[in-house]
Amino acid sequence: MAPREDGVTELLRFPDDFLWGSGISAHQCEGGNRHNDWWAFEEQGKVAGGERSGDACDHYTRYAEDFRLAARLGHAVVKISVEWSRIEREPGVFDEGELVHYEDVVRTMCDLGLRPIVALHHFTNPLWLEEHGWWEGARTPELFARFVRVVAERLGPWVDTWITINEPMLVVSAGYKWGFWPPERRGWLSARRAARNLVRAHNLAYDAVHDVAGICRVGPAVNVTALRPPGRPTIADRVLASPLDWLANYYFMDRVRERADFIGVQYYSRATVQQLLAGDPLAVPKSARRLPRSDLGWEIYPKGIYYTVRSMWRRFGLPIIVTENGIADAEDCKRADFIKDHLAWLHRAIGEGADVRGYLHWALLDNFEWREGFAPRFGLVAVDYETQERVVRDSARLFARICRDNAVPVPAKDVV
Ligand code: BGC
Repeated sequence: MAPREDGVTELLRFPDDFLWGSGISAHQCEGGNRHNDWWAFEEQGKVAGGERSGDACDHYTRYAEDFRLAARLGHAVVKISVEWSRIEREPGVFDEGELVHYEDVVRTMCDLGLRPIVALHHFTNPLWLEEHGWWEGARTPELFARFVRVVAERLGPWVDTWITINEPMLVVSAGYKWGFWPPERRGWLSARRAARNLVRAHNLAYDAVHDVAGICRVGPAVNVTALRPPGRPTIADRVLASPLDWLANYYFMDRVRERADFIGVQYYSRATVQQLLAGDPLAVPKSARRLPRSDLGWEIYPKGIYYTVRSMWRRFGLPIIVTENGIADAEDCKRADFIKDHLAWLHRAIGEGADVRGYLHWALLDNFEWREGFAPRFGLVAVDYETQERVVRDSARLFARICRDNAVPVPAKDVV
């Protein structure tokens, strides 16, 4: 839609107390996470260009500097994760030094006026979990819950919002159905076992946190994908659309809804049934290359945040925090519009009654993008991996204004 010729801008106001912020995760930013399955995967040369996470953003030592930056950029909340393999390097042995480290991390955030949202699992697993069959193992949920209890007890005084598991269905599809992430299992049976164990792990973790951490809210962070209708739908497209939509978007929540105080919704793009079936769904196929895309080839489809948030709200009736939404955009030429357009559609979902409590942009910093290595640049703040210098991008300044105003500027005609 074209802006009004007189350039008049409207402000879409968000609810009072709306939480604005950003996210990062341990393995992607800290550096030196040697004791997990991703480190081993990287060592085997399985990441694009043979890259390794290495020192990443050296966030493990620079966290105070990074959180000062977030606070200066107007963020009120940052989603982080704790690294299981650091804290429990050997089964049942909890490293006091690492627990003190993460206490420092969340205390520093609170001192800066930032609220930590802590994810207890963000894709990585300690190497010793192999003996137990990774997420296919029947004991894994209990082992995870034992770790969760220790962390929640220690960080509880500073943390009021916990995410049990980040994007469990991506763990299942990438690690156990398609096998392009560790532990590289391929098959529906592996996927089914892993999915069931992740459900159980969430439920046990939910109880563990509530047992020990005092008053707080606990939920999963689920990846949601809007469905794109194909140009010419085949019978398979028609028959499979609804079961695949359910599997990708609702399966996990359907099974944990009794133990969720909120839903973390993570939205990036949309995909066709064929793409979902192909396993690596977000890069648009050749036939659709004229669509607006990110550096990773993912379609930029802002309306999808409206569809997915609205459907999660209607189906589960639980408060929602958008815990991730972002774009790989090294030149920073698309990110500002990406943010405004997604927020305009999120605003519409809220206007129609969805109880959305916050929006966290992914990511605060450029970081290690898993199998794609360091090339994709998701950060509001650019990182020079040679010098570890942080450079605030223009889009971060726009987002800072949004956070401070609690409102999104859109050309008057764009109001959706
Ligand atoms: C993950 C992040 C990742 C981002 C962009 C989400 O699936 O939680 O770790 O960097 O998407 O791909």
